[in-house]
Amino acid sequence: DWTMGAYREQMIAKIREQVGDKKVICGLSGGVDSSVAAILIHEAIGDQLTCVFVDHGLLRKNEATEVVGMFRDNYNIQLIHADESELFLGELEGQSDPETKRKIIGKLFIDVFQKHADTIDGAEFLAQGTLYPDVIESVSFSGGPSVTIKSHHNVGGLPEKMGLKLVEPLRELFKDEVRALGHELGLPDSFIGRHPFPGPGLAIRCPGEITREKLDILREADAIYIDQIRKHGLYDDIWQAFVAILPVRTVGVMGDGRTYDYACALRAVTSVDGMTADYYPFSHEFLGETATRIINEVKGINRCTYDITSKPPGTIEWE
Ligand code: XMP
Repeated sequence: DWTMGAYREQMIAKIREQVGDKKVICGLSGGVDSSVAAILIHEAIGDQLTCVFVDHGLLRKNEATEVVGMFRDNYNIQLIHADESELFLGELEGQSDPETKRKIIGKLFIDVFQKHADTIDGAEFLAQGTLYPDVIESVSFSGGPSVTIKSHHNVGGLPEKMGLKLVEPLRELFKDEVRALGHELGLPDSFIGRHPFPGPGLAIRCPGEITREKLDILREADAIYIDQIRKHGLYDDIWQAFVAILPVRTVGVMGDGRTYDYACALRAVTSVDGMTADYYPFSHEFLGETATRIINEVKGINRCTYDITSKPPGTIEWE
């Protein structure tokens, strides 16, 4: 695609001009956006870039291994794998308000990046994979009055005190364009096709208080759901699919006993850019089979619902 080829060259020149001989640190989330941003910046400035993959304890099953492995196997990018789960989960303890949770996570990300930036001599820039929809959604909604729907942790500039300037090479792009650019940059197709995963991770799929127990249950249920979607060949037809664990226990019966376990909600939507979305019309057979698997295989869940809310009026994530 010549358009993306031209964009790539243009951005590389722009990044070189902005950064000069200084150093950049880039937060890698494992999503397509930050991965494409990192690879593009690496192409522009090579070893002046250091990536930091923060494991905030809110990742999906096997996610850290898959993401770090993909980068180590395919790219020669300096990469720090920072396990900060104690820090994040500790600060989130007892917090149940969605915006408070988002703000805590956003602040801790900055603290962690700052800590790593301090160890890199000449680090003056922080790179992020912010997309155009992130920029506009955080300031207005459907052209209506200016109102914050959700504070995306990767938008809004950095606190002055951090003293780092932002590099955001994808700020003008929509998701499909980022994927095309990723393809242009040689990112493996399996990686480009990954569903988006939000920076705050499982925190916003665990409405209410976050506990390690709930996160472990959620990770198992989510892995089964995605496995089902792949087995039925539906993964690429869906924009995003995930499980949310609900902050409520319900009564059930299994074998000859009573259960009192968490309920979960399955979510799957189609979308072009994440700004609007329709719930995915799974067959009843698929839903029944998947619910049965989750309830049988995941200890801690005894009820499964399917979320049929489109966006608007719902948002894709639950928080
Ligand atoms: P919502 O839930 O607002 O999400 O309909 C739209 C898209 O954005 C993702 N999302 C985020 N991505 N940081 C991110 O990087 C965030 O704070 C964030 N919140 C939502 C969401 O997964 C969906 O793809």
